[in-house]
Amino acid sequence: MAFPISRPRRLRRNETLRRMVRETRLTPDDLIQPYFVCPGRGVNRQVGAMPGVAQMSVENALRAARETHAAGVPAIILFGIPQYKDAQGSEAWDDNGPVQRAIREIKEHVPGLAVITDVCMCEYTDHGHCGVIVGNDVDNDATLELLVREALSHVRAGADMVAPSDMMDGRVAAIRAALDNENFSHIPILAYSAKFASAFYGPFREAAESAPQFGDRRSYQMDPPNGDEAMREIALDLDEGADIVMVKPALPYLDLIYRAKHEFNVPIAAYNVSGEYSMIRAAGINGWLDEERATMEMLTAIKRAGADLILTYFATQVAQRLR
Ligand code: PBG
Repeated sequence: MAFPISRPRRLRRNETLRRMVRETRLTPDDLIQPYFVCPGRGVNRQVGAMPGVAQMSVENALRAARETHAAGVPAIILFGIPQYKDAQGSEAWDDNGPVQRAIREIKEHVPGLAVITDVCMCEYTDHGHCGVIVGNDVDNDATLELLVREALSHVRAGADMVAPSDMMDGRVAAIRAALDNENFSHIPILAYSAKFASAFYGPFREAAESAPQFGDRRSYQMDPPNGDEAMREIALDLDEGADIVMVKPALPYLDLIYRAKHEFNVPIAAYNVSGEYSMIRAAGINGWLDEERATMEMLTAIKRAGADLILTYFATQVAQRLR
């Protein structure tokens, strides 16, 4: 039926009608809030490139966790900044590292908040790469063992879920086997499955102090033009035992979130990464756009594309507004 019988504007006339036919609703349940946990006490160091985001020592992370939980956000994901970095990234599996201590504190005082941990070596290595360097590249198989140690250390501290973000081949299977072997068969793996070598991680590398000291991550993170390959990566991670798979970044890869949701019948996460946060914040601070509306529009688009879960630095503040 064509115009004038058909008039789509009839259902847009007022907010009540719009509410009745609204197809996608963002809720706090969809969101996961990232934190950067650092050594020391009383530290709350603002990240220059991410206004509103800070590196926090453990007791400040606990304070933030209470706030995130009170806003109705079900989960956080922790990134660690170590005291010392070395070639292997050995502080990653230190049971008294900032992440491990934060997990214990948060699980003790805010047990209803799910604590996920990012499992990767780049914050812990002095060269800033996501694994062991052999020659001038990251050695895949040697890195698996280190990721396993890190994941086990997080789960022993009480993490509810682990999220490997390194993009080594076989890491989901290696972590799954190690967890099962240590009686952690109930702990899910959220795999950063389709993680692209993206310019949008720029601000994160200041927040996590994890910029590679030479070269880049293109020999392990995916080449941005590749969509079919992203589907193959997801299929591999599911075969290896991933419970939730992720597409990252989100905004420039909405097509892949959509494809993943339709090709695989599993929960899909999307990471609204640091650069996506910073560009909206910067424009908002400059008065170039309405930051609140732009944020809601962006996160709703990610959900509409098919994401069941969205990792975003806006999580707590958006959830507070949604309540
Ligand atoms: C660690 C990791 C990165 C991000 C999440 N985990 C950085 C990277 O791969 O360089 C990026 C998150 C963001 O930009 O918000 N490997």
